[in-house]
Amino acid sequence: MTHTPDTHARNDIDTAPVPTPAADASTPARGSLRTRGVGKTVALPDSQLTILDDIGLDITAGERVAIVGESGSGKTTLLSLLAGLDVPSHGEVWLDGVPIHAADEDARAALRAQAVGFVFQNFQLMPAMSALDNVALPLELRGKSGTQAARELLQKVGLGERLHHLPRQLSGGEQQRVAIARAFVARPRILFADEPTGNLDRKTGLAIEDLLFDMDSARATTVVVVTHDERLAARCDRQLRLDAGRLRA
Ligand SMILES: Nc1ncnc2c1ncn2[C@@H]1O[C@H](COP(=O)(O)OP(=O)(O)OP(=O)(O)O)[C@@H](O)[C@H]1O
Ligand SMILES: [Mg+2]
Repeated sequence: MTHTPDTHARNDIDTAPVPTPAADASTPARGSLRTRGVGKTVALPDSQLTILDDIGLDITAGERVAIVGESGSGKTTLLSLLAGLDVPSHGEVWLDGVPIHAADEDARAALRAQAVGFVFQNFQLMPAMSALDNVALPLELRGKSGTQAARELLQKVGLGERLHHLPRQLSGGEQQRVAIARAFVARPRILFADEPTGNLDRKTGLAIEDLLFDMDSARATTVVVVTHDERLAARCDRQLRLDAGRLRA
């Protein structure tokens, strides 16, 4: 399924001080992702480990893409690079039309806050904050009141009766739903989710999956999801397979 991004619906998004994409035809569009020759290597005590090698990809605005591959093939590393959480050892990454390989940490953080939602493999909720405060946080960090939007989203994900629970008072599936609500609250153009249905039973996994796509269909978000779940992968427009750090056709 392909859908057209509704850029007009996003004019309410704050303009943070991030580099403005140059207006030429070769510049990727808002909401899109592009990499060229991306590699990631890390130094081990007596050798270099290549985690990703020569990754080139284009994901268009509004597309839903699954990244699949064996454990250790580099999926989480690639997602971190695409989302601007980490920088490549070499190559180019364009996030939301911005060449983030040339941006410093402050600029990448501003772009993430403005354009990106991220659902982490292990949720990463703030342990001392209620579900409501966790979901409101991305808006509060931008100087806005997030309480009303957070309450509405938590109701939407079926947690209207759990607003004041701390993460440790929630089940795994409930924490995952809080993490998804938090990722959507600031209305990102691009949503990244790392194994959003991992460690969940089939029924809960299916509910989470529906939630991801329902939230998305209302907003035409670009979605990049890392998953081992074949059913979830099949619901995406396209699958990218990583094999030992390389993209397989
Ligand atoms: N900072 C690091 N230093 C050293 N090695 C690393 C580092 N980060 C990742 N790796 C290694 O890179 C490889 C890819 O890791 P990554 O987490 O991207 O895999 P993955 O495909 O997400 O696996 P999984 O499906 O198990 O989550 C692994 O072999 C991992 O051990
Ligand atoms: Mg991983």
